[in-house]
Order: sequence, then C-alpha cells, then structure tokens
Amino acid sequence: MTSQISFLMCPPDHYDVDYVINPWMEGNIHKSSRDRAVEQWEQLHHILKKHAIVDLVKPQKGWPDMVFTANAGLVLGKTVVLSRFLHKERQGEEPYFKQWFEENGYTVHELPKDLPFEGAGDALLDREGRWLWAGYGFRSELDAHPYLAKWLDIEVLSLRLIDERFYHLDTCFCPLKNGYLLYYPSAFDSYSNRLIEMRVTQQKRIAIAEADAVNFACNAVNIDHIVVMNKTSEDLKAHLADAGFQVIETPLNEFLKAGGAAKCLTLRVTEPVREEVHANVSVESRILRIEGHLLDSGLINRALDLIIDNGGSFQVLNFLLGEQRQSTSAAEVKVSAPSHEVMESIITYLIDLGAVDLPEDERDAKLEAVTEDGVAPDDFYVTTIYPTEVRLNGEWVKVQNQRMDGALAITQTPNGVLAQCKILRNLEVGDHVVVDVQGIRTIRKTESREQRNSQEFSFMSAGVSSERRVELVVEQVAWELRKIRDTGGKVVVTAGPVVIHTGGGDHLAQLMREGYVQALLAGNAIAVHDIEQAIMGTSLGMDMQRGIAVRGGHRHHLKVINTICRYGSIAKAVEAGVIQSGVMYECVRNHIPFCLAGSIRDDGPLPDTQMDLIKAQTEYAELLQGADMVLMLSSMLHSIGVGNMTPAGVKIVCVDINPAVVTKLSDRGSIESVGVVTDVGLFLSLLVQQLDNLTSPYIFKAG
Ligand code: ARG
Repeated sequence: MTSQISFLMCPPDHYDVDYVINPWMEGNIHKSSRDRAVEQWEQLHHILKKHAIVDLVKPQKGWPDMVFTANAGLVLGKTVVLSRFLHKERQGEEPYFKQWFEENGYTVHELPKDLPFEGAGDALLDREGRWLWAGYGFRSELDAHPYLAKWLDIEVLSLRLIDERFYHLDTCFCPLKNGYLLYYPSAFDSYSNRLIEMRVTQQKRIAIAEADAVNFACNAVNIDHIVVMNKTSEDLKAHLADAGFQVIETPLNEFLKAGGAAKCLTLRVTEPVREEVHANVSVESRILRIEGHLLDSGLINRALDLIIDNGGSFQVLNFLLGEQRQSTSAAEVKVSAPSHEVMESIITYLIDLGAVDLPEDERDAKLEAVTEDGVAPDDFYVTTIYPTEVRLNGEWVKVQNQRMDGALAITQTPNGVLAQCKILRNLEVGDHVVVDVQGIRTIRKTESREQRNSQEFSFMSAGVSSERRVELVVEQVAWELRKIRDTGGKVVVTAGPVVIHTGGGDHLAQLMREGYVQALLAGNAIAVHDIEQAIMGTSLGMDMQRGIAVRGGHRHHLKVINTICRYGSIAKAVEAGVIQSGVMYECVRNHIPFCLAGSIRDDGPLPDTQMDLIKAQTEYAELLQGADMVLMLSSMLHSIGVGNMTPAGVKIVCVDINPAVVTKLSDRGSIESVGVVTDVGLFLSLLVQQLDNLTSPYIFKAG
C-alpha cells in the first residue's frame, strides 16, 4: 500500500454465471469454475493491495454479479450516485451497496425509478478530475446524465455505445493518468468519437484493436503509472510503456464469462473533487407530439427507431390510442440527445415523419437574415419534399414552392408574409431564412392500413421485378395516365437517349400525339438520336429497323446536328418539313413544351439545348409546376435532377434497367413513388398497348 487510493471489492463467494444479460454470458451458464474464479480474484486483490487500500463489501447469496462492484454506484468525493440496474437480475444488489455507502459516510443519491444507470461501469472520471465520461445505449439511460451533473457538480460528456459486446463504458474505455485515454473507437458512434477526439489530443489517445478489446484490455485499473488488466498484446504493452505505464497482467478469464474483468471487479471509492470544476451537461430534451396511424402504419416504430439510431433516447409520456380502425392515435414523446447538434438532426428526421412540437411548447420558427446574396446562415433548415408549414407570429404559414435541398426563405410582401423554398443561390439580402428546427412541421398524408396494403404501386423498388409485376405496374400507370389526361392534368416526362436506342421512341411519340404528355425534360442526346432516326433511320449510326450498324453511320448524328443548326431550331426544322416524325416532332406539333439541358459531353449542341445549367434548372422547375405525375424514363441524370425539385404528392414512376437508379428515386420515401426495373423500350410498348386497350369515358380530340 503506497497511496491513499481506496477500492471496494466483493469476494466471489457466490459468483457464478446464472443468467444471460450480456453477450459474454451466453453459453456460459454455470460454466465458470468457482475455484479458479476465487484464485483469480485473490490474485487481483493481492496486486491492488500493494498499491492501494482495498475495502470489502460482504457478498450476498443469490446475487452472483455482486462481485462486479464497479456497478455499485458512482463516487465523487463523499457523494455517491447509487446504481439503478436495468435488469431485475441485478436490482437486488442495490440495497447492499447502499448500506455499505451509508455506513462509510457517503451521501447517497438515488435516481428516479425506471431511470437505469449502472454506476462506475458506465461513468468514468477523467483521471485528472476535469470531467466525467458517461456512457449510454445499453445499460444506462441518457436521461440519467443530467442528474449526475447536478449531484456531482461536474461536466458530463455523454458517449453512446453501439456494440453490444461493449455494453458498459468501462469495457471499452479507460481514462489513464496524465490525460491519457485507452479506448476501443469502434464501440462508439461517430458523434461520440468526435467528442472524444475534441477532448483528448491525438498523442494522448491510445486506440486499441479488436483483439485487445475482446480481451477486456480497456477494463483496466489504473493506479498512477500502473495499469492492471486481464491480458494484452505486446503491441499495446509497448504503446502503454511509451506513454509511461507499466502493465500488470493477471488472468481473469473466469470473470470474462460473465462479461467483466479487472475494472469491473473494483470500484474506486476515493475520487478527489476538483473545486474549480462545475456542473455542465449538454444533454437536451424536448417533448414532441406525433399523430397518425401510429400503430397501423408502423409510424411510431419508425419514429422511435429513428431517435435511437441517430444517437438519442426517448420516453413515451402519453399514448392516446385511436380505437376505431379509421381513427388516428397521438403520442407525446420526450426525446433526449447528448447535444444540441444531435437533437437538431433527430428533430429534422422527425419533422420529415410529420412529428410536431407540443402545442403548449409551440414556438415561432427562428429566423436569421441573409447577409450575402446566395449564401444562407450556417444553421439553416434544409427543406424536404414534404409539404411544410412554418410558424410565424403564432401562425402556421404554408410554404410555397416546396422542394428538397433548399432553404426556407421568409419575405414580407404587401399581402403578408411569404414563406417559400429557395435554392441557396437564389437567396437575397433582405430575405430571412429559417434556422434551427423549431416551429417547423411537415404535413404527411396519414397512411392507413388499407393504403399500405394497396400499395402494389411501391413494391418494385426492392429489386428486379418479375415480368408479371411489370405488367401490373404498367396497368396502373396506364390507368393513371388516362385519368390525368381526361381530367386535364399534367404529366411530365424525363427521358434519356436509351429510350430511342431501345426502340421506345415511336411509343413515346404516340403518347405525346395522344395527349398523355404535357412537358418533356431531357438532354441534348435524346433529341439528336431521335432526330437522326427521323431523318436517317439510324440512331447513333445503328439502323433501328434491322438492328445493325450502318457503314459510316457514326457520322450521321453530327450531320443531324449540323442540319438543325442550319435551320436554327428544332421547331424550324419541323416547319420546313425536314423532321417528319419522332419525339421532338410531336413536341413541336402538339405544342408540348420541352427543355433540353446541356452537359459536358454534348455534341453540337443543338441550338435548342440550354447550356447555361442554372437557366436549365430554372426552366425544368417551371415546367414541373403543377405536375400530377413524372414519368422518368432511363435517365439517371435528368431523373435525379427532377426528383430534387419535385414535392411529395406528385406521382413518380421511374423506369430503368439499373436497379440503383430506381432505388435512389424510390428512397425519397414518399408513398407515391414507384420504381420499375426493366427495359424502357419494353415498358413503353406495354404501356401503349395497355392504353389502346383501355376505354375512356371521354372522347379525346388530337391536337
Ligand atoms: N454480468 C455483469 C453484468 O452484465 C457483468 C458486469 C460487468 N461490470 C462492468 N462494470 N462492466 O451486469
């Protein structure tokens, strides 16, 4: 014994693996040897006694895990926060530990019921006493952290554990003397890793490999320059030696079977208080209200998963169950996050799901002025495809021009406030932009059981569709197209050159002729191929009738570009009778507006192609206004571009032979999108056939 450091240990008289509450215990029930465990424990006890005082708490029959005194509570000075075990298998230890602390002159704090916290297993003081690292994710609740800060008057840094093998912070994290830190980074989420890196400089961080981590190398007891642990690699030993630490290995494999090692078997009960440090906690909580077919549509599960997956924690305060099948439910959920930053990202996701703040807590959105044209304030709210409302002067104002990836700009007009989505480059000094995530809500369609089950429409995204399924989608799309046409709606088509190569050009032209298409958004290439086919019967030099390459055919398409340039535009070439069929011909003849957006690889370009991409984006957005359906035909570039500008509620049908493109579009998560993985030529021919078979209640007059 060389210092005044004291540890609390509990002899392993009743130690065994009796149940499974962590992955290490699995398959180890009654597999540990009591004799060997006693021997290993004695050995550890012996080592520690050479360097510190060791106190003992009396073991209790029926509480086999009581040997792990790290979980008794968390001590700082003469104050202790008693553990509240998550599992009932260990809850019976609490009164014995409490008694020990009281008998030894500690002030004992107890957390509210149902707020689990497992003591020094999940809370580790910086060895210099500057702050407390606190873990959550498995055994301890994030909401316990503010209590630790309050009772111990210390700054608490919350770390989220994500690997269930490392279910307690002390299994993967060990602050050492002189500001060093021994830890296993993969056990933490990325936010926590960043926090660690911000507090501990690179030279002081000793990151260990998995092989050492699973030997519980982080579950070490540090007394000055000595580090006692179960087992370590030569590498790590050398690394620790460089940092001035001497490793003492002592086998503890009998305890590993229960998921613990050196550190777990001890509790440091002398932790000096540093007078200059004070409470500080960055954990934030907010109460949200979420409404809809919470159970039926799985909305509540999605919301709660999302909170956890993004590093937060929750408590369901109220759940008002809608009793009838048609009635919606409402829940009040308290969301906690380790920092404002994490809270913001969680809330952003929840807003997308349609969650809103509690009415009593309703606050106006926070606005910040734009100080430079084209630049938003740092913390600006990024818009989504969902219909959004923003709270201004106590009232919810509907956002105009809904699109994703914009900012919410608020302007005063003579007719009142205008809230609209603006892409960043269109922001102007004088605009005010919504920052943070308060006072924003999205209006999501309540998706009922019936709707969900009738969603034959969105099943395709999952993978390559079978032929029958393609037929089913075609039937639905045909029906929708007919309905939209006959009710004066708007269908916008985006199309890539593949449409022409796969022989879909005629079918698309037919759709246009018959009034099914109200705008075309495409690039230079499809127009050139289409016109080449109209004028020369080839597409990129391929004879489309016979499917073979024509000699010297590759020159065709430059000649076509040249011809159109001579006439000045596609429309003029049509008027002159140079182009007599095809997609572009039908556009001109039927007054279907089109925009051809240029790109770096364009030949020519055609005089009609808009090479100013900013203008092209604007024209696309204009043509998309009021669309009921967007038919995306084999063009990743144009389809994704269009997807970004299109609000939820517009039906999107994406057809591509490449599942990745289809998945990307369907990931929008709006129930109206459907992806079809198939050859676009085939799709169009089936579609035209299907439309021919449909009888319409209206008589259509060709334009
Ligand atoms: N079987 C015990 C449990 O799962 C092991 C506790 C280990 N203690 C620790 N501080 N990591 O609770």
